[in-house]
Amino acid sequence: MCVLLSGVLIYTLIQVSTIHGEDFGYDGVIGPKYWGETYRECRGKHQSPININILRVKQVALPDIVFIGFDDPIDDVHVTNNGHTVLIEVENEPHPRVSGGPLDGNYVFSQMHFHWGDNDTLGSEDKINHRSFPMELHMVFYKEVYKSVKEAVKHPDGLTVLAFFYELDRHNHPAYDDITSALTNVTDPHSTVVMSQPFSFLNILPLDLRRYFTYKGSLTTPPCSEVVIWLDFEQPVRLAHEQIEIFRELRSANGKIRHNFRPIQPIGDRTVFYNVDNNYFTYNEIDDPDTEKTKPKQKKSGHNSGGNIQLNMIYLFSVLPILVKNHY
Ligand SMILES: *[C@@H]1O[C@H](CO)[C@@H](O)[C@H](O)[C@H]1NC(C)=O
Ligand SMILES: *[C@@H]1O[C@H](CO)[C@@H](O)[C@H](O)[C@H]1NC(C)=O
Ligand SMILES: [Zn+2]
Repeated sequence: MCVLLSGVLIYTLIQVSTIHGEDFGYDGVIGPKYWGETYRECRGKHQSPININILRVKQVALPDIVFIGFDDPIDDVHVTNNGHTVLIEVENEPHPRVSGGPLDGNYVFSQMHFHWGDNDTLGSEDKINHRSFPMELHMVFYKEVYKSVKEAVKHPDGLTVLAFFYELDRHNHPAYDDITSALTNVTDPHSTVVMSQPFSFLNILPLDLRRYFTYKGSLTTPPCSEVVIWLDFEQPVRLAHEQIEIFRELRSANGKIRHNFRPIQPIGDRTVFYNVDNNYFTYNEIDDPDTEKTKPKQKKSGHNSGGNIQLNMIYLFSVLPILVKNHY
């Protein structure tokens, strides 16, 4: 009896230490399916990532996003393998900031990290029309009034994550060479290196920062807190296959991190908004009393830059009657 009990006890201790030692992973008993057993919020109704169905998005024309400090070269940037991903952190103040768009107030940069897959057919967390991208960048910011990430995660508007997708290119993206050479020095879990060159955020981003999807969701890793205003930029960053391969060489305590993306979660009662550029032509704005009440405000503004054909078609249909009206 005693032997049996102590056996159970030892077994329980091993179980607990596996969960707490590794805390979470992407396969087996510490994989995404089991996160909810230890972290209740991972079973919530407003989780991330999601699939964005572009036929269901609501078009909006939000104020411009203001990027502060994104084009400054930053010294002493730390690159860390935390056993789940690679983190890029800024030591020196002031940190880059972001405001505008759907955001109320200033958000301060905390860290950025990446999600990737075993091969180039998958790896992104959010999907667009069920399309996966080989990698995704998350730039995490906390709301300035909350003063720290620790405090911010207690509030529904505590964090914003700027998400960028990657797609393949035949050529190396030169701005990523500094990151990939740092990666070769942090293949072991819990190792850090200081970047040898000053690092500028803008250099690693796509050109078009005006078109993005936005919705309310969660952290995509435990504790899965539902405190994130997501901004998913439509234009991907183009990287060479060889550059993405270097991420797949990073190791956790259990071997190479071959993939670190969470599967998509139900969208539930949420709406995804699609921001189109409000600076092209805004000549046919409608005064619709109904749209005044809803926030973010929906503006019917003309725009066709040859981006997404399906969306531009929808858009054309919604504008056509106004064009006709204006003609007569
Ligand atoms: C890519 O990886 C996934 C997951 O391991 C696998 O199911 C799929 O067959 C792979 N695709 C290719 C083209 O290797
Ligand atoms: C990392 O290692 C490479 C050699 O593999 C070296 O050239 C580089 O300067 C190192 N440090 C950083 C921060 O990239
Ligand atoms: Zn992430």
